Amino acid sequence: MTQIFATDRDGSKHELEPQGHATLMEILRSAGLSIEALCSGSCQCATCHVFIEEPWLSKLKPMSDFEIAALGGEGGDLQANSRLACQIKWDDDLAGIVLTVAPEV
Ligand code: FES
Repeated sequence: MTQIFATDRDGSKHELEPQGHATLMEILRSAGLSIEALCSGSCQCATCHVFIEEPWLSKLKPMSDFEIAALGGEGGDLQANSRLACQIKWDDDLAGIVLTVAPEV
């Protein structure tokens, strides 16, 4: 059963089946999507920036100050549905999640 519906930067659609309890960043990168993850998930590079659709966005823990800062704060690349994929651990509550990889900055 597909549990992640992801759109890559080039508009290509991917249906992914997560294994275990990795982060979304690890799942997307393993599937070959354009997630650089230059800081390997330490919330510093923002190259794992994704846009999460509702209702899944509301299921996530609030963003930390570090996550907001990595996205450049309110004046940066931050949008209402922005998240760093490395800060989201896969959980079955997220089954069916719809997301889009953010444009490269
Ligand atoms: S991998 Fe660098 S902020 Fe997510």
